[in-house]
Amino acid sequence: MMGIRQTVTAGVCLTLMGCLVVTRAVTLEVKDGNSTCIKAELNAKFSITYNGTNGTNSVVFALPDSASTDNSTCNGVSQRLVASFGDGHALTLVFSSNGSLYGVTQVSLRYNLSDNSTFPQSTSADVVTVETNSSRISASMNSTYRCLSSSPISLNADVTVTFSDVRLEAYMQTGNLSTNESVCSADQTVTTVAPPKTTPAPSPSPPGVPERGNYTITSDNTTACLLAVVGLQLNVTYLSKTRNKSVSEVRNLQPNRTSFSGSCGVTVATLILTEDTTNLNFTFTLNSTSQKFHLSAVSVSARWPDMTAVFSAENSSLQYLQGSVGRSYMCSSEQTLAVVSDFSLNTFRLQLQPFNVTGNQFSAAEECRMDQENMLIPIIVGAALAGLVLIVLIAYLIGRKRTRAGYQTI
Ligand SMILES: *[C@@H]1O[C@H](CO)[C@@H](O)[C@H](O)[C@H]1NC(C)=O
Ligand SMILES: *[C@@H]1O[C@H](CO)[C@@H](O)[C@H](O)[C@H]1NC(C)=O
Ligand SMILES: *[C@@H]1O[C@H](CO)[C@@H](O)[C@H](O)[C@H]1NC(C)=O
Ligand SMILES: *[C@@H]1O[C@H](CO)[C@@H](O)[C@H](O)[C@H]1NC(C)=O
Ligand SMILES: *[C@@H]1O[C@H](CO)[C@@H](O)[C@H](O)[C@H]1NC(C)=O
Ligand SMILES: *[C@@H]1O[C@H](CO)[C@@H](O)[C@H](O)[C@H]1NC(C)=O
Ligand SMILES: *[C@@H]1O[C@H](CO)[C@@H](O)[C@H](O)[C@H]1NC(C)=O
Ligand SMILES: *[C@@H]1O[C@H](CO)[C@@H](O)[C@H](O)[C@H]1NC(C)=O
Ligand SMILES: *[C@@H]1O[C@H](CO)[C@@H](O)[C@H](O)[C@H]1NC(C)=O
Ligand SMILES: *[C@@H]1O[C@H](CO)[C@@H](O)[C@H](O)[C@H]1NC(C)=O
Ligand SMILES: *[C@@H]1O[C@H](CO)[C@@H](O)[C@H](O)[C@H]1NC(C)=O
Ligand SMILES: *[C@@H]1O[C@H](CO)[C@@H](O)[C@H](O)[C@H]1NC(C)=O
Repeated sequence: MMGIRQTVTAGVCLTLMGCLVVTRAVTLEVKDGNSTCIKAELNAKFSITYNGTNGTNSVVFALPDSASTDNSTCNGVSQRLVASFGDGHALTLVFSSNGSLYGVTQVSLRYNLSDNSTFPQSTSADVVTVETNSSRISASMNSTYRCLSSSPISLNADVTVTFSDVRLEAYMQTGNLSTNESVCSADQTVTTVAPPKTTPAPSPSPPGVPERGNYTITSDNTTACLLAVVGLQLNVTYLSKTRNKSVSEVRNLQPNRTSFSGSCGVTVATLILTEDTTNLNFTFTLNSTSQKFHLSAVSVSARWPDMTAVFSAENSSLQYLQGSVGRSYMCSSEQTLAVVSDFSLNTFRLQLQPFNVTGNQFSAAEECRMDQENMLIPIIVGAALAGLVLIVLIAYLIGRKRTRAGYQTI
């Protein structure tokens, strides 16, 4: 029989906000008979995406103080720390050792989707188990593994466990954590005296100019009512899972992987673009008084691999891409449409007509101001050159007249 004890160290809690965000260090202890075999002090935070009644939901929660280690095992070469908590959830760390090193060979999480206080509106009531065999947690025998840095471990595309403030030891000889420490590499870079610029954040290389998509909405299956040809680039600022901070990621919409749909009304038209987990919804509005149309609303939702949660944003009071009814709007230059502070769109080689399309093709184009300015530059340069040529010519003619007059006096 195994005697088990579990104690809790409360984390420092400065403000109420701090309490909610800074998770408390939990102490977990597993005993084999009277001797402690595994001891762990750590924070564990779970980020889980699941299917809800209103679409995809994401939750983040921490391993609570009340976690129980009752189902842990220490006999044999493989030791197992099982922290059970809540309504049927459990975090398991499986340890193994080769005599000189020990480490975590498997991290698994079992979670119960029928726990509707943790997973509100879940469409499933399943108990899900996810696991990974790559954890990077390893230390010398008779030493304490230390990793104060936050280190996320992805169990699958939907589940991430982030450990921080970790001190743990398995295959223990004494009841206390060894004073010898095996420090994880993340902590080593943090504690060096080198200036912070030696730890550059690897930002994804910016994509090139996006390919143009051809999105045509028809009213019956043959008559086009909304035409859009455009290269689109999304710029989303979100909290990165791997870097644990806010990052701006720029991604091109790939037309060959994008499906589209939409609707055409008398004064409102919509265009909906979907590429994998990215959804864009554009609303165009016609002002029948001024006979002008414009892009009035954009909503977006995205779930990219490095996002900690589903990103979604909307702005319904936009005044972009304004054109006259019966004409198309064109902008070959790159244009940035700021939708909200953490989401903007860059458009490239855009041509668009959301209303009054006739004959399945664009009407005469109205160019955006940027294009007009770009066109003006060659005109100005050309005019300046022509002026210069004229001045030189006049100067030459005057010069010739003077010399001829000079000869006549001789
Ligand atoms: C555990 O400790 C108690 C008293 O401290 C002792 O009576 C008991 O024999 C010990 N058990 C083992 C397995 O060492
Ligand atoms: C959500 O449902 C879809 C379709 O039923 C399924 O393919 C997907 O794996 C589910 N996602 C999660 C996180 O359960
Ligand atoms: C989910 O949808 C229902 C109706 O479809 C709505 O009443 C509810 O507020 C929505 N919940 C959330 C969290 O969006
Ligand atoms: C330990 O495992 C048993 C059998 O799987 C289970 O019935 C019990 O609830 C578990 N204990 C905890 C604390 O989860
Ligand atoms: C760990 O400590 C125990 C007892 O203190 C000793 O027998 C063992 O050789 C040590 N192992 C290593 C790898 O140092
Ligand atoms: C959670 O589920 C229980 C039992 O199915 C139900 O009684 C309760 O109202 C649910 N709570 C919420 C917030 O949906
Ligand atoms: C867009 O597609 C339509 C038919 O699908 C085609 O008639 C039109 O020429 C295309 N436009 C461009 C600019 O490729
Ligand atoms: C459009 O085509 C689909 C299938 O090709 C057909 O089911 C549908 O009835 C058509 N709609 C109209 C308005 O013609
Ligand atoms: C993306 O957005 C960020 C923050 O608004 C900005 O600093 C960056 O220049 C943008 N990048 C591109 C390529 O638009
Ligand atoms: C989409 O287009 C890109 C660039 O032309 C190409 O590399 C990629 O293979 C295409 N993908 C599909 C699914 O057609
Ligand atoms: C797109 O946005 C419009 C206006 O906000 C809304 O009425 C429509 O339901 C949205 N469509 C989708 C598929 O989200
Ligand atoms: C339509 O345009 C007129 C004239 O520019 C303006 O006064 C009016 O507020 C606009 N209406 C709407 C709904 O935007």
